[in-house]
Order: sequence, then C-alpha cells, then structure tokens
Amino acid sequence: MTELRLCREDIYQGSLILINKEFDYKNTEKNISLVPADTDYPEILLECKASSVLARLMKDTGCEKEIVPISGYRSLQDQTDIYRSSMTEYGAEFTTKYVALPNHSEHQSGLAIDLAKRQPEIDFIRPYLPYEGRYGDFRRKAPDYGFIERYQSGKEKITGIAHEPWHFRYIGWPHSKIMAEQGLSLEEYIILIREYPYKRRHLVQRKGRQNVEIFFLPMGEDTEIDLPEHALIQQSGNNVDGVIITMWRKDHD
Ligand code: DAL
Ligand code: ZN
Repeated sequence: MTELRLCREDIYQGSLILINKEFDYKNTEKNISLVPADTDYPEILLECKASSVLARLMKDTGCEKEIVPISGYRSLQDQTDIYRSSMTEYGAEFTTKYVALPNHSEHQSGLAIDLAKRQPEIDFIRPYLPYEGRYGDFRRKAPDYGFIERYQSGKEKITGIAHEPWHFRYIGWPHSKIMAEQGLSLEEYIILIREYPYKRRHLVQRKGRQNVEIFFLPMGEDTEIDLPEHALIQQSGNNVDGVIITMWRKDHD
C-alpha cells in the first residue's frame, strides 16, 4: 500500500475544479504551468496538459487549419477588463449571460479555451464554431480526449451561463467521457461523484486491460488514505468540498 496525503488546499486545484457563479476560482498561487494553445498563436495560453491534448485532438480530427483559438488563460485583470467592456458595449443582460464575473471564470484556471471556425471576422465574446462537418467530428471526439463543451443548450439554469458552443473545458479522461455518455454538466458530475465515496462504492470505467476507478474524498481537514502500490493515481479537487481520485490499475494488480 502507498499512502496519499491530502490537505484542504487540494480541494482548489486540478482539472476537475468547478468554477461558476457560486464557486469562485481560489487557486491564485500562480502554480499552473501555462504554454501556448497553438504555436501559431503564442499569446493564447493554456494549462500544459490541456494544451498538448488539444493539439492532438485538433490533429486527429483534421481541424488544425480549420479551428483557431480565440481566448485561453485569462488573468483576473483580463477577466475584469472583458467584463467591464462587455457591460459598457452590450449591457448587463448580455454580459451576465456570456461573461463570468471576475474570479468566477474557468478561463482563469487555464483549463478553458474558446474556439472558432477560421474566417476573416471573428466575434471575440461569441465566436462561431459550427456543429456540422469536421467541426462536428471535433465535438464528438473531444470527450475521448478529456474535453467537454462546458455550456450546453438546455443546461443554462444549472451552469448559470447561456449556450456557448465555442467554450471547451479540459477535465480529463474518463470524466469527460462519462459526462458525455450521461449528458451531464460539470455541476451534475460533481454531484454524481459524491455518490462514490472512498472505500465504499467506486465508479469503474474500463480502458483496454486497465480498470479506472473514480471515488470521492470529502475533505473536512487534512487526510491520509491508503492506495494500492502499483496503481497510477490522479487527484483533483472539486473546488467545493473534496477531492476526486482517479486510480488506474492493470487487471493483475
Ligand atoms: N464566457 C465564459 C462564461 C467566461 O467568461 O468565463
Ligand atoms: Zn470561454
């Protein structure tokens, strides 16, 4: 067995953090590693893993020349500026639908990216990304790579944001796949995972000869747990009340 130690700060870091009107972004330590989302757009940054996975997704779906990044990582100042200029230009009703309040934007985590069809004129706040053709292929494949369309039509009351076909969020596989298969928003997925607490019922997903187990650790205070020695462990806070563990094990472990 190996011991995994977790502290309360772990609630606020990782690819599964829920950032919305209710839960603000708390990991302002600048401990995220940012790289360009696309080498042709060096000023648009994304968290390192999210960026490499996005590049693979673009390549595998033949979208490298068709889809362009519009907005990735935003500092608190960036989000404040965007919010203020949208209020001035488009008013409060539009802005509350399409622009998150400063410190309540996923873009501040480096895990969100706005994408557009390559064309001469692109709207910065509402870029156009179709559902048809190779854009549809890109959308269908995204959950196999760890990305989700974050603000889906029909989920507006849950996410608090209008339908945004252009905004993708990296949360990691297999979470993205489970969400897509079950039609869940991130808010709903975070609730679902609480039904799978450590050492009780784990959510199991199969990948080749590996079992992927997902379970939840509520974090009242710093905690230590025992996990199998040969398992590959990934952890992410949910930004609310605990940490989600993803454990990869080969059949014979
Ligand atoms: N457009 C999304 C909601 C943001 O501003 O983060
Ligand atoms: Zn966005």
